[in-house]
Amino acid sequence: MQATETRVPFLDLACIHKQMAAELTDAFAGILAGGAYILGEPLERFENEFAIYQNTRYCVGVGNGLEALSLSLRALGVGPQDDVLVPANTFIATWLAVSQVGARPVPVEPDPDTHLVDAAALRKAQTAATKAVIVVHLYGQPAKMDDIVDFCKSEGLFLVEDAAQAHGAEFKGRRVGSFGEAGAFSFYPGKNLGALGDAGAVTTNSESLADALRLLRNYGSAVKYIHEKQGFNSRLDALQAAILSVKLKYLDAGNERRREIAQKYFSGLKAACGLKLPAVVEGAKHVFHLFVVRHRRRDELQKQLSEAGIQTIIHYPLPPHLQNAYRGNSYDCGPLPVAEQLAGEVLSLPMGPHLTDEQVDYTIAQVMRICNELGA
Ligand SMILES: Cc1ncc(COP(=O)(O)O)c(C=O)c1O
Repeated sequence: MQATETRVPFLDLACIHKQMAAELTDAFAGILAGGAYILGEPLERFENEFAIYQNTRYCVGVGNGLEALSLSLRALGVGPQDDVLVPANTFIATWLAVSQVGARPVPVEPDPDTHLVDAAALRKAQTAATKAVIVVHLYGQPAKMDDIVDFCKSEGLFLVEDAAQAHGAEFKGRRVGSFGEAGAFSFYPGKNLGALGDAGAVTTNSESLADALRLLRNYGSAVKYIHEKQGFNSRLDALQAAILSVKLKYLDAGNERRREIAQKYFSGLKAACGLKLPAVVEGAKHVFHLFVVRHRRRDELQKQLSEAGIQTIIHYPLPPHLQNAYRGNSYDCGPLPVAEQLAGEVLSLPMGPHLTDEQVDYTIAQVMRICNELGA
């Protein structure tokens, strides 16, 4: 049987990197010739650039997005005996960060339309031991931060933003990752701002938090071979930092293209039978890391799109509480019907600056055809 030719790749990083290949090669050559590969000037330069982009006072580069979250919690003093409120429908890293500091992730059901948690849901899930909240700007869409900031302030809870999917997203004109005590970013290659390997960062306006993070990421040391804390090895490589400095210049244009593609999907797919399009939060500047639709017959839709040469991905097929990693946990969180229903129905359509208008139009035409055949 002949394999179907891919006509619309979900993401094509090699294609995205082509337009900046000369600059990336120069950045690589500069690091190679410079001879310093850990910490140092290239990292500081990127940290400054990203802090300016975020409009935060500090940015601390770390090894990846998971450690951006776990080191933030650790630096805030979250640990055993503490509960941390987390969305029920996030990538497992959000939960793992909590578990890794010895605290307990307490799941919060998302809104079924936006797939995001809001202040009312956080309040409902709050326990006596809750010390912090991790809010996730899922798929690139900011959560309703004004209500969430008010809730955390009134309850005296730390607020950590998981902005791994939301570089450049804004809520009411302010960048996500600048609302809470800490904003955690992943620069995994497929993100809107991605390195050529693993990388992450924390943005913050707190000098003491930035200092604590700098210690924690570097064996608890500010002065070579003098160790204030039992730290970790979680530094953002100089090479990745130099690559990110190049790619940061292309982030806004890439996000604008994503928003343009999203508009095409919104208008082209509004009459698709049985298809639920994503709801956009008022005041949110969504950067569409993912364009996630819902369909009751999602698996059939995905299969037929694949036969038409269109790649799609499910983010995520199994919520954290149903993963073996969290089964049989001392804390049984019981059924989470909204997160479980979303996991059975969500489908991410191709999205990214690699897509041509023709590919987007073809995807729209195929989704329309298949949805109309499948019925409501
Ligand atoms: C919402 C969310 N949080 C955290 C992470 C973890 O980032 P990393 O893969 O860089 O550890 C990811 C990455 O996929 C993510 O999507």
